Amino acid sequence: MDPNKRPDDMVRITTPELAQAFIEEQVEAVRAQVGDGKVLLALSGGVDSSVVAALLIKAIGKQLTCVHVNHGLMRKGESEQVCQVFGDELDANLVYVDATDRFLDLLAGVEEPETKRKIIGAEFIRVFEEEARKLEGVSFLAQGTIYPDILESDGVKAHHNVGGLPDDMQFELVEPVKLLFKDEVRVVGRELGLPASMVDRQPFPGPGLGVRCLGAITRDRLAALREADAILREEIAEAGLAGSIWQYFVAVPDFRATGVRDDKRAYEWPAIIRAVNTVDAMTADVVEIDWALLKKITARILAEVPGICRVCYDLTPKPTGTIEWE
Ligand code: XMP
Repeated sequence: MDPNKRPDDMVRITTPELAQAFIEEQVEAVRAQVGDGKVLLALSGGVDSSVVAALLIKAIGKQLTCVHVNHGLMRKGESEQVCQVFGDELDANLVYVDATDRFLDLLAGVEEPETKRKIIGAEFIRVFEEEARKLEGVSFLAQGTIYPDILESDGVKAHHNVGGLPDDMQFELVEPVKLLFKDEVRVVGRELGLPASMVDRQPFPGPGLGVRCLGAITRDRLAALREADAILREEIAEAGLAGSIWQYFVAVPDFRATGVRDDKRAYEWPAIIRAVNTVDAMTADVVEIDWALLKKITARILAEVPGICRVCYDLTPKPTGTIEWE
């Protein structure tokens, strides 16, 4: 039997009871695989790696070390939440690495989107590798691979980036959710006690805000983007829409527009709001956010985010526009 093929008769995990049964089964399977060995996990804070972390903490506790690399391109509050949930509440072995300066220094002046992605991906592996080398006796690497990763990309989780470790650092993989679809991973995460804000999170690209701070990233524009994005997320959540929009975010371009502040001319950045619905991310429709809500979000961004003097709403479907701006 191919271990990477979901059996035709595998029941879809849709209820808490089915999730509990899955968790019990995987706890046993992980214990059997790992024995008293040590396991390493790159914990981004995304749904898949978070669920794997919670599952492994339940199965093997302190035999697991989670490494959370903050590349400086996380959304507001995300790294803090990872530390709170896994470090404080679940009492995991958590290594938190603030690598913000390393990433932003490397990205300074780099405009081309794919070059930015490559730099972020390569540096992520380097930081993770450095941390892994500090640990002794690790023989397993856990990954949040899910079934669509296997179906769509040869089983390699692009944004996890840890597939590119050097030859002398090859580990045996532990992939407890690799046969699950995303909605099943969420049900399992809920049963493991992870907060809804983590389990129901919208998709977030591996390069993070790096592909939404358009062109060459600067710290001040990145800070403005992070604040504007936090306001958008807060207002969407407050309006009760968080669960019904696939992806919503802010992008900030690398040019300024004219504005007026305190009766004086100001040259500040525009903030672009994008909200889309899609089934498979191959095509996407723009969400018709209520006008009053858009005006409220606009007013808050303009009042609360230094450096932003305009707000635009992106009306482009995919195609022709991709979901991300870069
Ligand atoms: P696009 O922009 O191609 O995005 O329409 C489709 C989906 O993929 C996500 N995305 C990425 N995810 N690394 C990722 O892990 C990336 O470099 C990347 N680029 C886009 C995007 O957020 C959307 O959900």
